[in-house]
Amino acid sequence: MHICLMVRNYYSISMRVVDLRSDTVTLPTEEMLEAMRSAELGDDVYGEDPTVNRLEELAAEKMGKEAALLTTSGTQANLVSVMSQAKRGDEVILEEEAHMYFYEVGAFSALGGLIPRLVKGNMGVITPNDVDAVLRPSDIHFPPTTMICIENTHNRAGGTMWTPAQIKAIHDFAKERKLSVHMDGARIFNAAVAQNLDVREFTQHVDTLMFCLSKGLSAPIGSLAVGDREFIRRARKCRKMLGGGMRQAGVIAAAGIIAIQKMVNRLNEDHTNARALAKGLQKVGVSMDLSRVQTNIVIYDVRVLGIDARDWISRLGLLGVKAGAVDAGRVRMVTHRGVEKDDIEYTLSAAQKVSEDIRKELRSS
Ligand SMILES: Cc1ncc(COP(=O)(O)O)c(C=O)c1O
Repeated sequence: MHICLMVRNYYSISMRVVDLRSDTVTLPTEEMLEAMRSAELGDDVYGEDPTVNRLEELAAEKMGKEAALLTTSGTQANLVSVMSQAKRGDEVILEEEAHMYFYEVGAFSALGGLIPRLVKGNMGVITPNDVDAVLRPSDIHFPPTTMICIENTHNRAGGTMWTPAQIKAIHDFAKERKLSVHMDGARIFNAAVAQNLDVREFTQHVDTLMFCLSKGLSAPIGSLAVGDREFIRRARKCRKMLGGGMRQAGVIAAAGIIAIQKMVNRLNEDHTNARALAKGLQKVGVSMDLSRVQTNIVIYDVRVLGIDARDWISRLGLLGVKAGAVDAGRVRMVTHRGVEKDDIEYTLSAAQKVSEDIRKELRSS
């Protein structure tokens, strides 16, 4: 992508911008915009928006569940999912770096009244043994544990995936203990495409899930909570309570339908680009575990270069490459539909330049 910068009104220069901060920066396709313009609409709080109804039916069918609910965001879909299954004061088990715990403003506790019990995972995946180790018996002193939440793909672990077998193991364990399993599947289609499996292979082993339309699938807004009819009935009421009841939401749903029908298979391109980016960055000298680069997220540590994440990101930013910080040393780059192969090459040359500049500065200091 190029943007034109007017410099002091005298002349303009064309500067390449490669936005790798997130796949949420993807813009809707022309087809989505046209579908939004011509969508058949109604009041969805009355259940009368035919386009929303079509999207929810399509999402439920895709995921092999009874029903689905369009929400404003992934955060809202996760929140209505837990609030519809666990009551205030319940304990919910999560991987320690779960998005629901880390990045959702504490809504889980602040609005849901739920108590997170964190479990350290391996590349974002937790096992029945991990959960068993923290589960407490029923006792007057302890809050009841009612749910396990998993994340596939796992954002902070680097877009790493759960396999269907790993999900089944947690689900089987959960059923023995009468717990429900919710999957934050914001990027579940990335996991499905990367493993060349139907998405139902993953969803059949969870009670409920959410997935996002507005990440790699490129729709402008929206996520879906998915599960059985009774769960969706409760989630719909909860969404209303949170102010998420939308009226002519068909304008959003119209793009979502295209996202599900047409944008899934191309996620493979993002994975190929992420792999090329990761291998190139390794040559530049950053520290990275390539085995974590499984989908469209690349996380690496720049402290080996003698710089911190913020400084690295701001230097790359001056060259038009945008990235995000995971913590003081780690940087995240996410590939998506707005990033082509030549953008990856450009990013690598920018990273090479920044690392050479740092070396020179360190030598002369
Ligand atoms: C794994 C995961 N879950 C949930 C969300 C929340 O989605 P939203 O930004 O639509 O609230 C994100 C967003 O990046 C995410 O990466």
